[in-house]
Amino acid sequence: MGGTLTCGKAGLTTNDAVFIDEARKNGTRFIHQPYALYSDENHETWRRLYARMLPRWRQFGNPHFLQGIDSLCLDPRRVPRLADVNRFLNPLTGFQAKAVAGYVPAFVFFDCLRNREFPTTITIRSPKNLDYLPEPDIFHDIAGHVPMHTDRAFAETLVRFGECAHTAAELVSGMRDRAARAERLSSIIRAMARFFWFTIEFGLMRSSDGVRAYGSGLLSSYGELEHSVTSPAVQRYPLQLEWAINQAFEIDHYQPLLFVVDSFDHLFSMADKLEKWMREGKLDHVAPGEPLVNEQDIESFLEAAN
Ligand SMILES: [Fe+2]
Repeated sequence: MGGTLTCGKAGLTTNDAVFIDEARKNGTRFIHQPYALYSDENHETWRRLYARMLPRWRQFGNPHFLQGIDSLCLDPRRVPRLADVNRFLNPLTGFQAKAVAGYVPAFVFFDCLRNREFPTTITIRSPKNLDYLPEPDIFHDIAGHVPMHTDRAFAETLVRFGECAHTAAELVSGMRDRAARAERLSSIIRAMARFFWFTIEFGLMRSSDGVRAYGSGLLSSYGELEHSVTSPAVQRYPLQLEWAINQAFEIDHYQPLLFVVDSFDHLFSMADKLEKWMREGKLDHVAPGEPLVNEQDIESFLEAAN
């Protein structure tokens, strides 16, 4: 497959894609999806991931997600084209998947959400790592995240959350002292990252059949999806904002603590409260610990503040 580019080996496999290496080397953040470069092995990986998740989604995915999977008309056998996904997604909520070459600094990422764009990884995991990958891939992003973006209340929550980043930039723009600005931002970004983690990535929602997953980290994990809903080893509590923003998390094992929302209107009200609390200074000194906020994330907010 492929062979249309001069840059050599085809294939868009995580950590082994010449096209992505080149984009990063050139400092290109937003890219197109060079669809012809996907190898047969890449498509086969998508097919295997999709086929084994489907029965688990039906069992443990929340109804809005299942509806989203239907609405997007994903091909179970081939890596999706982002243009096709967007053709179904955009008329529903205005959202679109936008291809990126990798890591996107925090402010840029949140700002994309505010503009109804979802930074989307286009590489796919190697068949050797079918079960777990620390970084996102197209299966996590398109099969895990994007079906949720077809739901209006969920989409509005993402936009509201994205607006929080602008509030943060605005709050520090009047501060003279650079160190004080960075310290305040570091706490606010930590709070936002925790909120995102415990809701968008690992959220559970009450449903008539018990709790069901809406978090993309759960919906793209073969093992953890069932574990999150059924295992007695998981603590499940109603989402409390003060707890979530002060709760550290680790990414490399199944989550021992998950938060449950009643509905996406409930989740929206939490994103709304997050923004109000930010203005009141309640996010300026959240508990230390994971996730660590890097210099680039802070810098991205400072740039926006200027
Ligand atoms: Fe994610």
